[in-house]
Amino acid sequence: MTEPNDLERHFEHTLEKDQRLEPRDWLPDGYRKTMIRQIAQHAHSEIIGMQPEGNWITRAPSLRRKAILLAKVQDEAGHGLYLYSAAETLGADRTDLTERLISGRQKYSSIFNYPTLTFADVGVIGWLVDGAAICNQVPLCRSSYGPYARAMIRICKEESFHQRQGYELLMTMMRGTPEQREMVQEATDRYWWPSLMMFGPPDGDSPNTEQSMAWKIKRHTNDELRQRFVDMTVPQAEALGVTLPDPELAWNPERGHYDFGEIDWGEFKEVLRGNGPCNTQRVECRRRAHEDGAWVREAATAHAAKHTTREAAA
Ligand SMILES: [Fe+2]
Ligand SMILES: [Fe+2]
Repeated sequence: MTEPNDLERHFEHTLEKDQRLEPRDWLPDGYRKTMIRQIAQHAHSEIIGMQPEGNWITRAPSLRRKAILLAKVQDEAGHGLYLYSAAETLGADRTDLTERLISGRQKYSSIFNYPTLTFADVGVIGWLVDGAAICNQVPLCRSSYGPYARAMIRICKEESFHQRQGYELLMTMMRGTPEQREMVQEATDRYWWPSLMMFGPPDGDSPNTEQSMAWKIKRHTNDELRQRFVDMTVPQAEALGVTLPDPELAWNPERGHYDFGEIDWGEFKEVLRGNGPCNTQRVECRRRAHEDGAWVREAATAHAAKHTTREAAA
């Protein structure tokens, strides 16, 4: 019998040496719970995130744009699947996680509760939303939980394709008609602030950050990542020729970073509370898809059972 102390020491040592924890390792309950919650919320965000852009697949303006958008939305489904699998290695049950999502007990990223009103939104989501996701997720490739960190490596590679396709779409539109340029600007105006909210509440208002950093689940604070995103995006907006809707946005030579205006945290909280423009619609759509897919799950289970019986007989 191994003493619990040895197990705890192994856990601490693994973190100190910056190595990965694996499913076979002993994990403190708090770590396991936090990790399951984070991975589940991430998985839910990938799956719910298919909806706003999926909305434009049938109306994409060309075959090329349609093929790109289809590939992107399918990638997001794949991301959700890797992540649910990573959560299962911690003992979570996927059916239970889906139940939690459709009953509103588990969250997903606030950004997907905003509507996609024009095709320029597809470009702006790729540029800003996938761009913010990359800032958040690249450090997670070094997260302390092995299956999560490894899933993140492939996800990040695909996210950079998403970011590029969005930016390329916007570049094309900016070289188009005045109406197209206006569409890009209008979509940027709507998505800029919600993108900054994707990094979560300010550090002073983020009670779990300290523990998550100690466990090396998280590598940077919300405000650090938000600043990195702003610094990376401002020159991209300039190259594109759009204005970011923040009069306080300015380079601060002393800090070596861009200063930016106050985020409307009241809006953020309302969206998290379920009162964003599309919360009900998103969750309802996911519930319907889950119910409509029941026959596939039943058929797969019946098929697997039949196989097992046959093998046993053989
Ligand atoms: Fe994704
Ligand atoms: Fe993406």
